[in-house]
Amino acid sequence: MDKILVHGGYPLSGSIKISGSKNSALPIIAATLLTPDPCVLRRVPDLSDTNYMLQILMHLGAEVERASGTVTVKAEKVNSVAPYEVVRKMRASVCVLGPLLGRCKEATVSLPGGCVIGDRPIDLHLKGFEALGAAVRVENGNVKVFAPKLTGAVVNLQGKFGPTVLGTDNVMMAAVLAEGVTVIEGAATEPEVCDLADFLNKMGAKIEGAGTRRIIIEGVKELHGAEHDIIPDRIETGTFLVAGAICGRGITLHRVRPEHVISVTTALAQSGFNVATTANSISVSPNGAHTKPLELTTQPYPGFPTDMQAQMCALLATTEGTSVITEKVFPQRYMHVAELKRMGAQVEIEGATAVIQGVERLYGAPVMASDLRASAALVLAGLKADGVTEIRRVYHIDRGYEHLDEKLSELGAHIERVKE
Ligand code: EPZ
Repeated sequence: MDKILVHGGYPLSGSIKISGSKNSALPIIAATLLTPDPCVLRRVPDLSDTNYMLQILMHLGAEVERASGTVTVKAEKVNSVAPYEVVRKMRASVCVLGPLLGRCKEATVSLPGGCVIGDRPIDLHLKGFEALGAAVRVENGNVKVFAPKLTGAVVNLQGKFGPTVLGTDNVMMAAVLAEGVTVIEGAATEPEVCDLADFLNKMGAKIEGAGTRRIIIEGVKELHGAEHDIIPDRIETGTFLVAGAICGRGITLHRVRPEHVISVTTALAQSGFNVATTANSISVSPNGAHTKPLELTTQPYPGFPTDMQAQMCALLATTEGTSVITEKVFPQRYMHVAELKRMGAQVEIEGATAVIQGVERLYGAPVMASDLRASAALVLAGLKADGVTEIRRVYHIDRGYEHLDEKLSELGAHIERVKE
């Protein structure tokens, strides 16, 4: 296993290109199961999660070719069983359920486990499938769905913690081949849901309203192949914006969609950083004055993203004053706090809220990565800390960030990856 050593105190400057979105690529790769025709996906990030999803599709019978960021998938014949040993490593594998149900009218997929950021139920996914006429059975750790025919229906996918991103994706992918019209009320409005709808419409689906809480899908008989460019990764964008805020002299991110990260750029500007955007780039730089503490609450899009909460904790750990972050999406998503405290951060967790007293400095220390975004937060904290921060279990980072250490090195960070 690799570990990452971050030598703190080196200011970042310059520019990098942001990769395609992991959370858009995963459901879009699954959606290629809906047609026997070849599909060409560009800007698919080279991550363990996306490569894992491609392995799942190959297990289901699809032919997959990858040439750098371009992936071609041809699911001419598809089997509908994704067993535990194939899907156990990644919760997002659950989003093959919808396309398998749409294409094969049945699917058996091992239930996703929970993970460190919290329980990861799929009750809303299954509620949507049942509304379309599917019978759902959960047995021996598998979820089985079966429908002699799928019929359009009205279904509300709003859960107690808000809408479900992959649940909206899954029901949309089952509904595109249903007979009649499906209306998803309480739909997730994330850009990744819109990107999936765009791709499905290129395949011949008839979807309106993606990006709003009400998505209308008019079922069609079949879908054909399509080509698609995956949107830029807004969480990678936010992560690098925070890196530039923590220890940047001024960095610019290219190939981004500024409108997808308004909640993050607004927070950084409120704290006192200079943020400048063009149609497809964002620059962040210090403005010389003291930065101010923040009060943030994570919300479904377009609110402040839960996937940026850990990274902001790393920034606010050395922002003078008292900052408060409240997690409304995954209330227990604070695995990074104990590790940040090992580096000298002063953070107290009260229920779903983190109260952060900014400190003068952090100190490099050996720390343990626990999940994708927590790992990124530890790297960011290491950029600022005195001394060397050693981050173990970096496979978490490789799940969701394409060449994070190399990109940070391009910006001037002193960071190296070594064998444990
Ligand atoms: C997606 O997960 C993202 N993953 C997550 O990013 C992200 O944190 C999350 O959305 C929230 O924005 C991908 O897109 C692959 P949800 P998803 O269903 O769809 C509850 C990362 O770091 N819920 O929107 O699985 C759930 O418990 C990852 O890239 C139900 O109650 O999340 C949570 O509290 C981590 N029942 C809330 O809804 C359900 O059936 C939102 O979950 C489904 C979800």
